[in-house]
Amino acid sequence: MNNSPHQPVLYKEIIHALQPRRGGRYVDGTLGAGGHARGILEASVPDGQLLGLDVDPQALALARKILAPYEQRIHLVQASYVSLSAQLAILGWDKVDGIVLDLGASSMQFDTPERGFSFAQEAPLDMRFGPTMLKTAADLVNELSERELADLLYQYGEERDSRRIARAIVKARPLHTTRELVAVIEAVSPRRGDRIHPATRTFQALRIAVNEELASIEEVLPQAVASLRSGGRLAVISFHSLEDRIVKEFFREQSKDLVNPPYEQIYKEERKATLKEVNRKPITPSDEEIKNNPRARSAKLRIVEKM
Ligand SMILES: C[S@@+](CC[C@H](N)C(=O)[O-])C[C@H]1O[C@@H](n2cnc3c(N)ncnc32)[C@H](O)[C@@H]1O
Repeated sequence: MNNSPHQPVLYKEIIHALQPRRGGRYVDGTLGAGGHARGILEASVPDGQLLGLDVDPQALALARKILAPYEQRIHLVQASYVSLSAQLAILGWDKVDGIVLDLGASSMQFDTPERGFSFAQEAPLDMRFGPTMLKTAADLVNELSERELADLLYQYGEERDSRRIARAIVKARPLHTTRELVAVIEAVSPRRGDRIHPATRTFQALRIAVNEELASIEEVLPQAVASLRSGGRLAVISFHSLEDRIVKEFFREQSKDLVNPPYEQIYKEERKATLKEVNRKPITPSDEEIKNNPRARSAKLRIVEKM
């Protein structure tokens, strides 16, 4: 694909990482608009197959259209990547050759005001990636205690003003829309010459909590590793340090041999490394990609290969 607005983040790098080949089986756990999936299908002509998952029915509908030319080779399912092992079992796929996870929200979700992801647009406080998420952002904002809210903003948003913002939210609630929430935050947490808007971290924190993003990543990584064939690759793009830390630590841990030295027991359970890190440092987008797509600026790609 060229540099159309639909070019997914780190597109070339993902295709290079997975090296799709004919006859291969691939998983895109975060299908979105199907950009990475299309690249994988094109690179694995004539018979590479792809399982695509997304919790968002709108994303799935769009991907289905975009991937229509590959209809015979795709299996698209509205499901969380947390159900990866189960989805593979349903297909009868024992092992796969490559998996991509491009975490977080899509441009389409950010750019659909009524989804409530953007603090720049008036909308209900929703922020669910899909209809199966139990709570909306409004539910959290209106139901959590002040303490729980402050912890959530601090942990998932790394928000320094978490206590002050939580107190103001509790005082002002019920809050139903993005603008109402932004107004509360702006009143107690003014810009301090930061690059980012004062509501950025609160919106990030709520989105992570609504979609249980960090727990989902922790759940999917071992499943992904278990389902790769030897030599198969897993490529993960993260967009903030909380996600990246989980991915980095999991990859480091699984790339180490845990073997006790003679006469010592450091590890309760010995195990050989299951993964090899393909890149020690994360791959980041080029200046040109960031110029074309400013949202790519915080992307980090880590790639591992199954031993
Ligand atoms: C950054 S976008 C992916 C864009 C995609 N790579 C492309 O080429 O268009 C992330 C997608 O992952 C989906 N998503 C987020 N959490 C998910 C989960 N737990 N399971 C499945 N899909 C998820 C979102 O709904 C969103 O569509």
